[in-house]
Amino acid sequence: MREIAGRVLIDAAREAAALAHAPYSGFGVGAAVLIGDGKIVTGTNFENASYGLSLCAETVALATANSQGHLRNVVAIGVVGGTLARDGSLSGSALITPCGRCRQIINEASQLGGRDIDIYCGSADGEDFAHFRASELLPHAFGPADLGIK
Ligand code: THU
Repeated sequence: MREIAGRVLIDAAREAAALAHAPYSGFGVGAAVLIGDGKIVTGTNFENASYGLSLCAETVALATANSQGHLRNVVAIGVVGGTLARDGSLSGSALITPCGRCRQIINEASQLGGRDIDIYCGSADGEDFAHFRASELLPHAFGPADLGIK
């Protein structure tokens, strides 16, 4: 079951990455968030000319899930990143895991939903795959509960 969910999310993330706006780094990232009702919400990295103000795919996908009323019902997230070609295809064999800022944002959904979110990281070439829980990637997290937010 976990394997199937991971595969579906990674495929959706790879498909989403085709629309990444990443002309500065040339590195496309796609993220796919699984909601409790089976819906999938995707996002891509969204760069801009300032470089430093760029948004990561996981952040975009989770903010979109929130804007659709799903922040407390996130079950899992899949992430894929690699070199982005002009035709939208991704290449590369390395797994990427969410950056530090994205881990904090995943933790927000994890704690508010009362679930240790599953995180599936896939390589762009489809050869490699890893599974983590939110608490593994951000142990001893500071979160909403520390500020009395439920
Ligand atoms: N990036 C993501 O979208 N997610 C991550 O977890 C790591 C990095 C993006 C940011 C930037 O647009 C590009 O990848 C290269 O760092």
